[in-house]
Amino acid sequence: MKRLVILASGSGSNAENIIRYFESHNEISITSIVTNRKEAKVLDRAKKLNVPSQYFSRKSFFEEEVVLEYLQQNADYVILAGFLLKIPQNIVDAYPNKIINIHPSLLPKFGGKGMYGMNIHNAVKEQGETETGITVHFVNENYDEGAIIFQAKTPVLITDTPEDIAKSIHKLEYANFPKVIEETIL
Ligand code: GRF
Repeated sequence: MKRLVILASGSGSNAENIIRYFESHNEISITSIVTNRKEAKVLDRAKKLNVPSQYFSRKSFFEEEVVLEYLQQNADYVILAGFLLKIPQNIVDAYPNKIINIHPSLLPKFGGKGMYGMNIHNAVKEQGETETGITVHFVNENYDEGAIIFQAKTPVLITDTPEDIAKSIHKLEYANFPKVIEETIL
């Protein structure tokens, strides 16, 4: 069995979708959800789905070894699904090509510091893009710069609001992210 830990900071709808996808999988299991925000909605989802969860402060991530130790006990792969902290060097080093992130744009467009959530979809709209999409990639020490595993596109209509774009992106994520994880790992 390959064991996956999901890191998430927010709502966690992707985390939930991934958990459901692998629920009765023969080769992949989700061992827990880790968050850096005590109030993150993803914790309610974990409870509802009977998946263990664990909170670590920002300080634990960057100044201590506890997160790395936790991951080494629980994870062969680390999945980032809306996780907003940079991954510390000790974790990147311990998991080469084993940390997988999803980014809601067609990287390298709309990547880098500050480019997350609605900031991305607002920028896509402002710049008059006619298409956007998702990128699944390996994580290295720089934001959004690891090797790209998969991309999928969706059109941006002239009438689309940033909220409409966010909705199309979530649909693409739900349809593709679990499958891409599965194909990357197996
Ligand atoms: C997703 O769009 C993901 O691509 C991005 O953050 C968002 C998280 O949404 N990194 P959710 O928490 O999974 O609902």
